[in-house]
Formats: sequence, C-alpha cells, structure tokens
Amino acid sequence: MISEKMQKVLNKQVQAEMYSANLYLAMSSYCDFKGLKGFANWLRVQYQEETAHALLLLDYVKERGGKVEVLQIEAPAVEFGTMTEVFKTVLKHEQHVTGLINGLYEVAIQEKDFAAQIFLQWFVNEQVEEEANATDILGKLEVIGDSGVNVLYLDKELSTRVFVPPSISNAN
Ligand code: FEO
Repeated sequence: MISEKMQKVLNKQVQAEMYSANLYLAMSSYCDFKGLKGFANWLRVQYQEETAHALLLLDYVKERGGKVEVLQIEAPAVEFGTMTEVFKTVLKHEQHVTGLINGLYEVAIQEKDFAAQIFLQWFVNEQVEEEANATDILGKLEVIGDSGVNVLYLDKELSTRVFVPPSISNAN
C-alpha cells in the first residue's frame, strides 16, 4: 500500500507525463506541417515514450493498491518556431520533468517508501537520457543552423528513430 501523499504525487506525475506526450504530439504535427517528416517522426516517438511513462506510473499506483486519479491536461501550444527553438523547448521541458522526478524521489524518501524509491530510480536514469538526447540534437542544430541542406540531413537521421516500449524490468 502507498501513502496518500505518495499516491497524490504519482497521480500528478501521470498528468505531467500525459502533458509531455501531448506537447510532443503537437510539436510532431508542427514539424510535419513544415515538411520535416524526420523531426516529426522523432517527436512522435517521443510522444509514444511519454505515454508509456504515464502508463508505467499509473500501473505502479494500481500495483501498490493505490487509487488512480486521471487529472485534466492543459493544451500545449500550436506554433514552436524554428527547429532550434523546438529543441530548446524540448530540452527546457525535460529539465523541468527532471525536477519533477527528483521531487517524487524526495517524497518517497520522506515517506520511507523504499519500494517507490527503487521504482523511481528507472525514471531518474531515464531523465539523464532524455536530457542527453535533446542536448545532442540541439548541439547539431546549433552547428548546422536552421535552414539549408544540412537540416535535411538531420531530418533524415531523425526519421530512423523507432519506438521501443520501455519497461522497468528490462530497463534496469
Ligand atoms: Fe517522461 Fe520526457 O520524460
């Protein structure tokens, strides 16, 4: 059984992950509209990852005998600017999510919920990867700029990303 406080923050994180999913879906659609199908693909995979994160958290609440509360999700923006601006937003958003995950971990420590601490370690590691991925693409964009043929090369590279469903058991 999880504490009321742990349950509340986990449910809020499900909401945050679903917001992330919608944010990336909106960005993906934006890139698609701009004709950058590879960027759109990368962000659509990101949408799938975020949905999977939400479900991992939701299933964990259920597994621990907690009560799932599906909360309202704010609509994301529609316009995201240049590809550099898109990835600046991605990185900033992931840094924000890292703060949320760290906050959850802190609650798990305060509540002396050792099982939740172990569960959340996967998310702590995942955030390192999330930030590194965004930083990597942003770095490339800063080198090649926002227009010209090099963007198309990067678009081609990003078109190869494939969604691999995460699971806590195979990730540790
Ligand atoms: Fe679910 Fe991008 O962190």
